[in-house]
Amino acid sequence: MSDITLRNVCKSYDKEHYAVKDFNLDIHDGEFVIFVGPSGCGKSTTLRMIAGLEEITGGELWIDKQLCNYIEPKDRDLSMVFQNYALYPQMTVYDNMAFALQIRKVPKQEINQKVHEAAAILGIEQLLKRRPGQLSGGQKQRVAIGSAIMRRPKAFLMDEPLSNLDAKLRAQMRVELADLHKRLGTTTIYVTHDQTEAMTLGTRIVVMKDGFIRQADTPSAIYEDPADLFVAGFIGSPSMNFMEGTIHKNGEGADFVLASGQKLEIPKQKAEIMVERYHNKKVILGIRPEHFSEKFKKENANLSADRCGLTGTIVVKEMLGAESIFYLKERSALEFSARLSVETQGRPGDELRLYVDMNRVHFFDTKTEKNIFYHGGQQ
Ligand SMILES: Nc1ncnc2c1ncn2[C@@H]1O[C@H](COP(=O)(O)OP(=O)(O)OP(=O)(O)O)[C@@H](O)[C@H]1O
Ligand SMILES: [Mg+2]
Repeated sequence: MSDITLRNVCKSYDKEHYAVKDFNLDIHDGEFVIFVGPSGCGKSTTLRMIAGLEEITGGELWIDKQLCNYIEPKDRDLSMVFQNYALYPQMTVYDNMAFALQIRKVPKQEINQKVHEAAAILGIEQLLKRRPGQLSGGQKQRVAIGSAIMRRPKAFLMDEPLSNLDAKLRAQMRVELADLHKRLGTTTIYVTHDQTEAMTLGTRIVVMKDGFIRQADTPSAIYEDPADLFVAGFIGSPSMNFMEGTIHKNGEGADFVLASGQKLEIPKQKAEIMVERYHNKKVILGIRPEHFSEKFKKENANLSADRCGLTGTIVVKEMLGAESIFYLKERSALEFSARLSVETQGRPGDELRLYVDMNRVHFFDTKTEKNIFYHGGQQ
């Protein structure tokens, strides 16, 4: 177990482009840190630099107060699990798991004990005599993770370890990984594309774009208090709705006005700043699909009901069982999605009036794309 620190870490493969730029992060002992971001943003590169599989172009990597830029991968004492876990097909599960320790000349008795311990943790004891060809995808993945935990490394580095599994198995393995982390407490860095994995497994999420960190914070802070338009749109499914509109003073308060003329009242605590900085100017409003409802809620009691809702025409209704996602078109042709209860009536072509939880919406500056009321996280 250990701390991992990256100081101004950069990577360029070809001198002209940076795959990772000025990466600063303190990962504390026992943390489960998730790297997310669009394809090509530098997640795997960062992980591979930490593992020592990729040379660091600039900056410093510290593991347990030791500068590690030039330490050989095998001496860093980290275990990596890849998306395409490589098991030796001709060897049994037992030998696959024992292999790393056998080449390190660990005594047989000790290896035997460790293999059985790891197999017990992952519930694969009954599979030890089989060969990889006789295992399901999820079982192979468990063997790969078993091999990784055997050594009790300082940290686990996992690059999309579950992405080859079907949805049900992924969900099951996700719970097992969370449980494993709770039991072993090993520092873990985990790359994923999966929103649910990021939100449920991570003690901290690092959102990356174009080689830079855009925000690093707890899952709830990333969700409730996104730093900018990119992070707000990237985390959450379906994505946050963005609407451009103008800020108008309205008596003591303020309204956000869409091109169609539909108005939303800005809560009192935000109205003053909005008028001061944006009166008659454009801003972008962000509303998560789950912050629409068919009924006027008491959370909005400080606002007027007639200026708390949006009317739209239903385009598509997706019934998901426990809830329904409505895709609607506002009068100015703006499209938005709303996550509503299964009881919500309405068919494509019908008009629907929805209330917005105005205390949970976000406002973004059109030029800087920053969240105007960002509270700030640890980074
Ligand atoms: N060996 C390499 N040589 C040159 N460029 C590379 C190399 N490996 C990665 N890159 C580039 O570096 C950037 C970051 O790649 P990286 O693999 O870290 O992305 P990623 O965030 O893991 O993406 P994905 O989600 O698709 O796995 C990309 O632009 C990629 O094309
Ligand atoms: Mg990758």
